Amino acid sequence: MFFGQKIHPLNFDGPDRLTIGTDAVELSGANVRLWVRCTEIADGCLRLRFENERVTDGRQHSDAVLPEHRPGRSVVPQMERDTAVFAATAGRVELDATRLRLELAGFSLATVTGGIGGCGEALLLNFDLSAVDGCYGFGERTKHLNKLGDSAEYLTVDVVAVFRHTYARDDYDPTYVAIPLAILKSGERFLGLFFDNPGRAVMDAGKSRPGEFWYQSLGGNTDLYLLAGPTLAEVVRRHAALTGRAPLPPLWALGYHQCRWSYRNATELRELAAQFAAADLPVSALWYDIDYMDGFRLFTWNRAEFPDPAALNRELKAAGIHTVTIVDPGIKREPGYAVYDSGQAREAFCRTASGREYVGKVWPGDTVFPDFTLKTTRDWWAGWLAEFLRDSALDGVWLDMNDPATGYSRTEEMRFDHGAVPHDRYHNQYAHFMALASRRACEQADPNGRPFLLTRSACAGTQRHSAVWTGDNASNWRHLRMSLPCSLNLGLSGVAFNGPDVGGFMDDVRAELLVRWHQAGCLFPFYRNHSAHFTRRQEPWQFGPAPLAAIRGAIRTRYRLLPYLYQCFFAHWLAGDPIIRPLLYHYPGPEFSDLDDQYLVGDALLVAPILHGEGQGLESIRHGVTAQERPVVLPPGWWFDLNRGEWLEGGRSLPYAAALDELPLFARDGAALPYYPGPLKNSLMDLSAIELHLFCREQPARFDYFLDDWETRRHESGAYGVARITAEIEGGRLRVVIAESGDYPTDTVRFSPVVYGHPELRELELTINGRAAIQPLRAGQRDWLCRTLDVQA
Ligand code: GLC
Repeated sequence: MFFGQKIHPLNFDGPDRLTIGTDAVELSGANVRLWVRCTEIADGCLRLRFENERVTDGRQHSDAVLPEHRPGRSVVPQMERDTAVFAATAGRVELDATRLRLELAGFSLATVTGGIGGCGEALLLNFDLSAVDGCYGFGERTKHLNKLGDSAEYLTVDVVAVFRHTYARDDYDPTYVAIPLAILKSGERFLGLFFDNPGRAVMDAGKSRPGEFWYQSLGGNTDLYLLAGPTLAEVVRRHAALTGRAPLPPLWALGYHQCRWSYRNATELRELAAQFAAADLPVSALWYDIDYMDGFRLFTWNRAEFPDPAALNRELKAAGIHTVTIVDPGIKREPGYAVYDSGQAREAFCRTASGREYVGKVWPGDTVFPDFTLKTTRDWWAGWLAEFLRDSALDGVWLDMNDPATGYSRTEEMRFDHGAVPHDRYHNQYAHFMALASRRACEQADPNGRPFLLTRSACAGTQRHSAVWTGDNASNWRHLRMSLPCSLNLGLSGVAFNGPDVGGFMDDVRAELLVRWHQAGCLFPFYRNHSAHFTRRQEPWQFGPAPLAAIRGAIRTRYRLLPYLYQCFFAHWLAGDPIIRPLLYHYPGPEFSDLDDQYLVGDALLVAPILHGEGQGLESIRHGVTAQERPVVLPPGWWFDLNRGEWLEGGRSLPYAAALDELPLFARDGAALPYYPGPLKNSLMDLSAIELHLFCREQPARFDYFLDDWETRRHESGAYGVARITAEIEGGRLRVVIAESGDYPTDTVRFSPVVYGHPELRELELTINGRAAIQPLRAGQRDWLCRTLDVQA
């Protein structure tokens, strides 16, 4: 089967008889027999299990759903005339012999007549899309945010290996991540369909046949989770509650990361650290790509180039620079190499059907692959990785080639559980179980700390273990443009902590593209500049003073806003909202359905980056400086322009021109943005003094600021507090009230209000935990990107 091919709906056998049982409805026809069961899982979440008589292994191998949500409460079907009805608290599901209808939170959806079928092990669910005007989620995808009219294949692949000739296009499919979640929009209502089947599948949202949504799985049984809206946020939160939310990362992981395939020796790493300091750029992490190893053997160092990695890593950390190494799953098949020998002794590797060790061909040559689905293998792996992290004084792990990439060797022969379980059941979950095992290793290496892991491949639920980067993109404007909808849909699909290779991985970047990519990506959840070997170097200083100054503005803005980003991560951990969001997340009007060249960070900051270069689009000259122009859609209400320092009225689209060092950035009326005012020295930040940047025109500002220790996992057992912040302007005075509660000491953070756009204000009335004080507001200035704005503080 080629990528993207489907099974023609006419090749499926459809049922024509319905029989009701005690807990299941049986649908049968000449060549097909299916059972449908309904389970109430959680508030606003129902599961429909589709069992196909032809499926040989009916076990659910997916690890997507959190164990506590797997059992649920079975809903007994009732016959109403010739229709079987599952009436549940979350919604209602009706089945007749040829059709499925459902309704949740006011959203109705039905299959077309004959829209349920089986073809061997394959399952077809074919929904009528006529009332649907938008489709979102779909996991990691290329192309646009709205997937209506598009189709997606669920098979994790090493994109560059399988699309050699097309990687530079922006419409390849499949990708590295498989999350079959479709969020349907009808007017202002949303409904989520999460198809929990770890095998190969396709979702076609009206591409092959307009007006029809096809879900086709090729094997195994499918659990369809119905996630009620009515809002997009409710669907996203329910999916996150079902499959898990990202744990809080360590603060340093939210800073700027610098990577390259590869920094090749200790001297180069030290030089890099010095170059960042000389360029007045903070950096929180430097990364080791594959060449740090001895002959690509995992858990080794090339000692000629890195004589004492632990000393080097400690030295960098003392300067606030953390280190992360790449860890691929492929283990060199070399008797005498301790990792291979011990894995073999533990029967830790994947096998073929006849029980041979499955062999692939990756960087080290002939390679074997840990079977991470086995607990014994995960323990073995965690032991090796934890020891390596500890011995080398490393802070993070970068999981790559886990799609899994097996070189010229086909993956299909790779089987699991000592050869007993066919490849397809775990192909899309290979990275997931690798991430699970690796997270355990990080916890072993540092029992009190917060792990940081980054993975290329993932499936639903992997966000519980690791952040995701969107793989091998290329240095061109199309890939910059694509990175927005890709990261936004990935965030809607549960992977909040994600981002692209800023600057582009393959091909040579140019100065303007590098600057614009930094601006577009500097407020993404994950912010890393990475490039491939043989490409032009793309560290921020490689293109001279003007691009460096513009990139410095982007990086510094990231650090100034790190407390805000951290708060977004905290809120995500509690409720599941993505860090960056399409505008549709908060503004469900039709003008936002397809809008994917601008985004919100949290609910208060709007970013509309320039996504084209000189000569490619609208341009204007301001004060003798060339600026690129784009339309910016401002949602209703007032927005504060953080380049020009002025209020703009929203509810319209306006042309906006930005010079090379400008990023169109707007704060919502009613925003309170925590801002780090201190010195910028890599990840060394003292967040006990925070400025609250307040944007109040017609709206009071409100913000819940979570309080914790920034570094341990104590918050997981409830040891955190919240500072409830409100600010309003009344009678010529700024009135700010901060009330702390929860299981955390009070007054650990000193908040200083800063207000924008109100030169007339003279006084601040600040009440902190019941203690009120009146103080004068003084004129001052604050930096945003390369702009300095007047404020009152
Ligand atoms: C893969 C990764 C890339 C890495 C390279 C070498 O292509 O996606 O990020 O630099 O392998 O390890």
